[in-house]
Amino acid sequence: MADTSDASPLPAHRDLVDERLVLWYFVAACSYMFASMLGGLLMALQLVNWNPISEIELLSPGRWRMVHTNAIAYGFLANAFLGTLHWVVPRLTLRPVLDKRLSWFIFAAWQVVVTSTAVGILLGEAQGLEWGETPVWIDPLALAGLLLVAINFMAPIARMKGALYVTLWYFMAAFVWTFLTYAMGNFMPQYFVSGSSAGAVGGLFIHDLVGLFVTPLGWGLMYYFVPLLLKKPIWSHGLSLVGFWGLAFFYPLQGIHHFLYTPIPMFLQYGAIISTIAVELVVTTVIVNFFGTLWGNGRAVVTNLPIRWFYTGMVFYFLTCLQCSFQTTLTFQALIHFTDWVVGHAHMVMFGVFSMWLFGIMTHLIPRILGVAWYSRRLCEWHYWLSFGGLLVMVSDLILLGPFQGWSWAGLQMWDASIELSYPFWVTRIFAGLAMFSGLLVFGWNLKKTFELARSNVPAAVAVPA
Ligand code: HEM
Repeated sequence: MADTSDASPLPAHRDLVDERLVLWYFVAACSYMFASMLGGLLMALQLVNWNPISEIELLSPGRWRMVHTNAIAYGFLANAFLGTLHWVVPRLTLRPVLDKRLSWFIFAAWQVVVTSTAVGILLGEAQGLEWGETPVWIDPLALAGLLLVAINFMAPIARMKGALYVTLWYFMAAFVWTFLTYAMGNFMPQYFVSGSSAGAVGGLFIHDLVGLFVTPLGWGLMYYFVPLLLKKPIWSHGLSLVGFWGLAFFYPLQGIHHFLYTPIPMFLQYGAIISTIAVELVVTTVIVNFFGTLWGNGRAVVTNLPIRWFYTGMVFYFLTCLQCSFQTTLTFQALIHFTDWVVGHAHMVMFGVFSMWLFGIMTHLIPRILGVAWYSRRLCEWHYWLSFGGLLVMVSDLILLGPFQGWSWAGLQMWDASIELSYPFWVTRIFAGLAMFSGLLVFGWNLKKTFELARSNVPAAVAVPA
């Protein structure tokens, strides 16, 4: 918490937060989500042989698949996180970011980085690294951008006196880790190491992107927004520190669980397995802490939409990590590796957890920024239910499919047999994806109408607290 013991008056919100910038980040994030979902749908259609644009090389599904994942990670998640950080860090530290002009510069530069990545990939210039497909000439720019982000946000945190709230612990760690993770994953396998060493680094990179970039930012934000919306402190400050240090200790060791049964030395594979299982225990402490905080206010999950987004994400988080501790065992891995189980798992964590949290944050912040209530609360509900329902169907469908594919391969059936059995599951995925996509469109429409409402200065139907 910020130290205000010098009794100086609290700075005004408008001096701390550049609301227009926060809003621009959210609009950019949703635009990339739109592009990513189009890519996902195209790829899903391709897998059942219904691709409507199959003859165009520039739009070939293999390239769109990379746009799908890159636009989500660097377009949606990074933009939405950056927007939210511009709200949370100044309010928590009671100090503005180092330089608001720098913030706008970073915003513009980041859009150039993400758009160039998508264009570069479509032109066939992808770098041959999973999740590091950003063309090599963009990597130094992206890394410089991450450095500037860290400097801009660390300045107000560094000027604080007194104890730091756990949110800021997570943020500080994320700024340093994201920079290091990006540097390691994009440069080491490209220029310095090769063979199974490059594989080991690649595994670390994939997992650290989730564990050391999105996870600390996501949980840091939950520690800020949940107590604020429930109007009570977090259940246990001690447990929140156990969660933070547990993550810091166990997460960086896990990456190699992506490459079990490979020529990477077995002691590294076993280490990754043990730390993956260990992190599930840490996750349990975090979940207990948040459900302890909710205790006595359970109805908020029904009545308060952002809280519902947050807690849905937490349940998915717990399930994803639980899944992880099973799928990391060698026995289970032999069955599900390369199957759609993994794709189901990936959607559960990326959409079910972090995107849900960020949509909850947008649902909470956008009316505060625009000064009017949402144009339609019912459309907000539709956004939630279409996203949640679509995701639940997609994830259950793919996770169920995985073992069937695995058994088919283990039984040495012809490859075609596994394709045939997958077909109805892949068709189901298209409809589930369409539901999620419709949820986003509903959100976009509601946002447009809320903008219009704000512009026409119609008094808010419901008062929006500052
Ligand atoms: C319109 C909804 C969506 C559809 C139809 C869809 C479909 C797909 C398809 C077909 C793949 C490739 C699977 C394969 O290669 O076998 C994929 C991969 C992936 N998608 Fe989506 N997706 C959608 C939305 C999302 C969203 C919203 C996110 C994240 C927030 C996401 C994250 C991912 C990730 C991380 C992968 C890579 C999985 C892996 O490599 O294991 N998708 N998606």
